[in-house]
Amino acid sequence: MINVTFLTADGEKIKTQGLAGSVMGLAVEHDVPGIGGDCGGVCSCATCHVHVAKKDLARVGEASEIEKDMLELTDDVSEASRLCCQITLSEDIDGLEVKVVRE
Ligand code: FES
Repeated sequence: MINVTFLTADGEKIKTQGLAGSVMGLAVEHDVPGIGGDCGGVCSCATCHVHVAKKDLARVGEASEIEKDMLELTDDVSEASRLCCQITLSEDIDGLEVKVVRE
């Protein structure tokens, strides 16, 4: 199982586990507030915006050009911003922590 912890905008910590799919899928499955997943994960809505914890930035990697374009249209963007539908669950990201940007 791959562990991902979401810190919501109001400070709640939600610990989740999953085997496959995306971090957005895991959030929706666990009703994490602030993660909409409106476009179904095709990188065209930005309702899955998160800030990746500093310790995890390197292993999560950079956003693709398409994802960066989408982030440009989004509020509260930082260097830690990712659209979590574009982060695939894998052993490499086990223990990932992300902060949900939207309320
Ligand atoms: S779910 Fe739409 S951009 Fe991630």
